[in-house]
Amino acid sequence: MNPPIPGPSFFIGKGDDSLISFGSGQPDLPPPEEAFAILASHRGFKYGPVAGSVALRSELAKQYADAGPDDFVITNGASEAIDLALRAIAPPVGGPGGKVALPRPYYYSYPHNVRLAGMEPVYYDLEEGKINLETFKKAATGSIAVFINSPSNPTGTVQDVETLKAVEQFCAREGIYILSDEVYKDLIYVRENYLLHGPHVVTINSFSKTYAMCGLRVGYLFSKDAELVKAVVEMKTHTAMNTSILAQDMALAALLSPRSYVTSYVDVWKERRDRMYTGMRALGLELWEPEGAFYVLPTFKHSGRVVSDLYYTYRMITYDGAWFGAPDRVRFSYALDVTKIDEGLRRLKDFLENEYKNY
Ligand SMILES: Cc1ncc(COP(=O)(O)O)c(C=O)c1O
Repeated sequence: MNPPIPGPSFFIGKGDDSLISFGSGQPDLPPPEEAFAILASHRGFKYGPVAGSVALRSELAKQYADAGPDDFVITNGASEAIDLALRAIAPPVGGPGGKVALPRPYYYSYPHNVRLAGMEPVYYDLEEGKINLETFKKAATGSIAVFINSPSNPTGTVQDVETLKAVEQFCAREGIYILSDEVYKDLIYVRENYLLHGPHVVTINSFSKTYAMCGLRVGYLFSKDAELVKAVVEMKTHTAMNTSILAQDMALAALLSPRSYVTSYVDVWKERRDRMYTGMRALGLELWEPEGAFYVLPTFKHSGRVVSDLYYTYRMITYDGAWFGAPDRVRFSYALDVTKIDEGLRRLKDFLENEYKNY
């Protein structure tokens, strides 16, 4: 029996030539050339504004309706934006805790983030990766905030525009914050993305996925709730302070690069999506066809054992669905080139035929 895999951190940063990694959600494609071009001339090394560089915030503001630079905070990836937004809306320490409604399956950090902010996660179960409005409203009622993540990690699904509008209306009426995690907003195959908006919407985004800059750690939050933005900046002043000014300048250069950088990559992702989806279906696996992001989430019994056997015996990294609140599934990221995808599917076939059938 292979040993169990303790959690995602066991795999993060791992990789050698014998391994096929369907693990971390990290694009293998290079960032825009323009991001590197500024390195030769960059001389900034002093503290920068805690909210982030004005130039970067001004450029981001052009992407959103009715937005100005003061509505943005540049963070250490979307991860810091999520953490600070949650802590900014949490009830005072010592008082009763608040509830935050999460989709399930969820991005694995959400429940931890909510608890670290002194609050309690409650869940609305997705149906085939989609929001059921009745289930959603039940979980949202009495919650301080809800998370929306469309396109989603780990389901790869995109929520219908009508559903997102109904969520907006419901939360505006009930005074519930929407934390809209849109880190995959540009990696969508089925339609233009719909960006949630409203007085209590906190948009969370990142340069990690769209511009393949995961390790540089640049993300941001955008909100028209000036009090919340102020609270976030205040907290950041006493925690990380400014996000790396070099990384912010690289992010700005990426943002100013031709839009074709983003659109041409979507075609690459689409080809990989097709390869992965049809390949897995041909192996008899049950899964949803991804509509965005770069994940598939096929069903497997004994997901923990599958992940351990695939790693130790077949040299493949996959993520246990249990880490995402989906214990009967395994997540495969297809952020790797098609030759590796093909080799991974070949190993998976061996596993299914030789090992899994005896589970
Ligand atoms: C849904 C979702 N939100 C947030 C993050 C964190 O992104 P960042 O690298 O910008 O911190 C990820 C990373 O995988 C993600 O998938």
